[in-house]
This record gives sequence, structure tokens and C-alpha cells, in this order.
Amino acid sequence: MTQPITQDEIQDILQFTQSPDIAQNLRALSGHFSHGVVFSTSFSLEDQVIAHLIFNEAPAIGVFTLDTGRLFPETYSTWSVTLEKYRQPVAAFYPDTMLLQQFVGEKGPNSFYESVENRKQCCYIRKVEPLKRALKDKKVWITGIRSEHSPNRKGMQQVEWDNTNHIFKYHPLLHWSSSQVKAFINDHEIPYNPLQDKGFVSIGCAPCTRAVQPGEDFRAGRWWWEDATKKECGLHVQGEVVSDKK
Ligand code: ADX
Ligand code: SF4
Repeated sequence: MTQPITQDEIQDILQFTQSPDIAQNLRALSGHFSHGVVFSTSFSLEDQVIAHLIFNEAPAIGVFTLDTGRLFPETYSTWSVTLEKYRQPVAAFYPDTMLLQQFVGEKGPNSFYESVENRKQCCYIRKVEPLKRALKDKKVWITGIRSEHSPNRKGMQQVEWDNTNHIFKYHPLLHWSSSQVKAFINDHEIPYNPLQDKGFVSIGCAPCTRAVQPGEDFRAGRWWWEDATKKECGLHVQGEVVSDKK
């Protein structure tokens, strides 16, 4: 059974995420919690910034990706060049074969276009359930979420409690702008997904992502056929402010 998080650990997490120097925070978290800290990457621009910092500054932090099986070829290429550049492991988590077999067998390979219910079921099987396995027995989950992504993310805290996965989330780039992210990528010659230069700003699974036009919202190209209020896949549920847990 997962050990509940202690008050001392909560204080440590708050202390080690306070600095504006992200590399320093990553080193402190990694040094203190050892293998209890993980980072999820979708190989987005934000995630490539964080991966660069982790691989160079705090390589004990476990980096993982959720391979849904429906990612763009360009995402797999970005994954490969990232491995070549940093020579550090990225763990891959996959959907449960039986769940996926049953779902696709019953509903077909592209049922997510037919209803929100099917789409959420597909996201659950391909992302949310594998995420639970990736986060098992961990204390801190680092993500590339930024407040500019969506109105929902604007209200997030840099450190929050995820009551669904029973883990602290740390979003080091929460308050970075798109231009800050791009400048960091360029300055450090970090490899990135070539789709970024073709109008794809938020990149998920291939059948559920399209390019956006200038002036469109950051996430307008994700599940574009759905009502904007339903456009979350279930990876990121609303977190709780940490002060509530003290
Ligand atoms: S999602 O909720 O719409 O799918 P988004 O693409 O904005 O998420 O990415 C936000 C953060 O969620 C990323 O920075 C990353 O930490 C995590 N994430 C999203 N998709 C994946 C994935 N396939 N594998 C691992 N982490 C992911
Ligand atoms: Fe399935 Fe689309 Fe969700 Fe990917 S984004 S898991 S293909 S519904």
C-alpha cells in the first residue's frame, strides 16, 4: 500500500519548489526524495525544456512518457533524437492490452469522433490508467503545464495536491510565456517536435490534434470537434491548494 505523505514531507516539497531557479529546485527535490520524483513528458516544447534541465541537473528524476499508440510520427522522432542527445532513459508506459483490445473490438479504432463518452474512454485507457501505474508510490509529479494553455490552467498553483492520484504536482514553467519557452529552446539548442513549426502548438494524439490558425486559442487544435468545456483528457484534474493540506 502507498505510504501516506507526512507533514514533514509536505513542508520539504514546499521548501524545495520555492526558488525561481528551477534547476536548483530539481536538484533539491531529487536529492531529498531520490526516486520519489517523476516527470511526465509528451515531448512538447515545455517538456523539452524541463527534460533538458533534469537530464543535465538532476538525472535521478525518473522521466516517463505515455505512449498511447496514436502519437504522430514526428513525436516518435522527437523522442528518438532526445534519447540520442541526452543518453538518458525515458520510460514508456503503455495501455493495458486487454482493456484496449476490448474497447477497440467493440467500438472500432476511431470511435472517439462519435461521442464524448467514447473519447473519454479512449483517453482513460490510453493515458489515464497507464499514468496511475507511472505515478505509483511516487511523491512528486512534475509536468510542463503553463497557465497560458487554457482558462482552467490559469487558476492553477505551481505546487498543488492531486487528490485523484494522491501526489504533489509541480509545474515549474507555470508562469513562463510562450516566447520564454521558445527562447530557452533556441538558446540551448534543444531538439523539438517539427510539428511546432507547422502550426501545431499543443500536440497530443494524431487523430485528435490539428494545426491552429494565427489568433486561435492554444488548445483550439485539440479535440476540435468537441465543446470547449469538455476538452480535458483526464490526466490533469483540478488540484487543491497546498495550504489546505498543512
Ligand atoms: S493533456 O491533458 O491535454 O493531454 P497537455 O498535452 O496539455 O495535456 O500536456 C500537459 C502536460 O501533461 C505535459 O507537459 C506533460 O507533463 C503531461 N502529458 C501530456 N501528455 C502526455 C503523454 N502522452 N505522456 C506523458 N506526459 C504527458
Ligand atoms: Fe484516444 Fe484521442 Fe484521447 Fe489519444 S487523444 S487517447 S486517440 S481519444
